[in-house]
Amino acid sequence: MDVIQATRKFVETIHANDQTGHDVAHIERVVRLVKRLMENEPVDRTGLLLAAYLHDVEDHKLGRPKGLVKQHLASLDITEERASFVEALIDEVSFSKGMTPTTRESEILQDADRLDAIGAIGIARTFQFAGSRGTPLDVSEDSAIQHFQDKLLKLASMMHTKEAKRLAHSRHVFMERFYNQFHEEWDGMDT
Ligand code: ADP
Ligand code: NI
Repeated sequence: MDVIQATRKFVETIHANDQTGHDVAHIERVVRLVKRLMENEPVDRTGLLLAAYLHDVEDHKLGRPKGLVKQHLASLDITEERASFVEALIDEVSFSKGMTPTTRESEILQDADRLDAIGAIGIARTFQFAGSRGTPLDVSEDSAIQHFQDKLLKLASMMHTKEAKRLAHSRHVFMERFYNQFHEEWDGMDT
C-alpha cells in the first residue's frame, strides 16, 4: 500500500464518529483544496498531502494523545527528513497557535484548512461544533454567531496563495451576508 493510501486509512479510523466538524469529510475536503492550490507550485507534493491528511489528528480540542502522528509517520516508508517536514507543516497550520508559515507547503495547507472554515461549509461546521459542545443558539459572548466575529470573518484576509484569496473572497461575501441576515432576523428587523 502506498504512503498516501496507508495514511488515508489511518485517519479514517482516527476521525470516525467525530461530530465536532473534524470528521473524515473535513479531511478529504482539505486534501481536495490542497491538490487544487498546489497545482503549478514547486512543492513536496507527498509531504504536503501527508500533512493535509494528518493535520487534525492531534488537535488539542479533541483530546487525543501526543505522538500519534510521529508513530504513524515512523511506520511509513519515507525518509526522516520528510517525516520531520510533515510534522513541521502540521505544527504551523493551527489558527490558535498563530504561527506564520515558513514554507510554501505550509502556506498552502493553512489556506486549505482555513477555506474549509469559511463559506457555506464553514457556517455548517460552526453550528455543528456548537451543537457538539452544547453552546446555546443566542448572541452572547460565547455563542456560535460570535465565533464569526472572533475568527471566521478574519480568515479571508489571511490567505497566502492567489487562488485561495480568490476562493476566500466569495466564501467571505456569502458568510457576511448570512451573518448580517442572522442579526436582522434576531432583532426582528429584516425586510
Ligand atoms: P480546524 O482545526 O479544522 O481548523 P477548528 O478546530 O478551529 O478547525 O474548528 C473546527 C470547526 O469548528 C470550524 O468550522 C470552526 O470554525 C468551528 N469552531 C471552532 N471553535 C468554535 C467555537 N468556539 N464556536 C463555534 N464554532 C467553533
Ligand atoms: Ni482542519
